[in-house]
Amino acid sequence: MRSWGVTLRVLPDLDAAAREGARLVAATAGTVLSRSGRFTLALAGGRTPRALHAHLVSQAIDWERTVVLFGDERCVPSEHPDSNYRMARESLLDRLPRPPGKVLRMEGELPPADAAARYEEAMRQVFPGTPFPRIDLVILGMGADGHTASLFPGTAALTEHERWVAANHVPQLDAWRLTLTFPVLQSAAAVLFIVAGEDKAPVLAEAFGGLPHPAPYPCERARPTEGVLTVLADRAAASRLPQPLP
Ligand code: 6PG
Repeated sequence: MRSWGVTLRVLPDLDAAAREGARLVAATAGTVLSRSGRFTLALAGGRTPRALHAHLVSQAIDWERTVVLFGDERCVPSEHPDSNYRMARESLLDRLPRPPGKVLRMEGELPPADAAARYEEAMRQVFPGTPFPRIDLVILGMGADGHTASLFPGTAALTEHERWVAANHVPQLDAWRLTLTFPVLQSAAAVLFIVAGEDKAPVLAEAFGGLPHPAPYPCERARPTEGVLTVLADRAAASRLPQPLP
């Protein structure tokens, strides 16, 4: 089993990190599409991706040969202000010159267990005949508590090792979420974290900066078993790293 390192890069601010993230997405897409007929990309939720998407729109990516998936979703209708799909549609999908070849939306409006099962079934059509899908690139964010996607500390989905998609009740939010599971994230060919903001600094320093901490955060477990892990952080999020990076 190959062990792959983590590339952690610090950029001056969120916009610079987003610009570099968009460049990495485009470069990955180009590499993948030079040797295969499709590029599979899982988008992150939350607020940070809006900055990434603003730069992605102008990247020369063959979206018609791209399959867009989602790392997680809130259990709300697609037009709800909290919907990750709505955020991605507004900031990216509706602004592309041509729509992606396929967009797999998590159906947040359905009962969570049904939505999770349906999404897994849809993913299995895209990645047939494999124990876990090898998504070409998964974009992730990180919460100040170390969660990623909707894999929150102390929640049931952290121990899901069979399913590709989990309906996860998050007591700290008093809400249900849909999320890709660790086996899926760990099967990815590449994971790209984009982390911004001072509030993320303590966890970033522990999770990806080597500072000792009692137990791994969910974000630490979202690393490819055989793939590339890149963390782009703005200076604020990187402010607690043990050695200032060049
Ligand atoms: C979500 C995300 C979540 C997000 C982090 C960071 O649905 O909220 O998937 O994991 O990436 O919470 O969120 P911000 O980008 O808003 O800081």
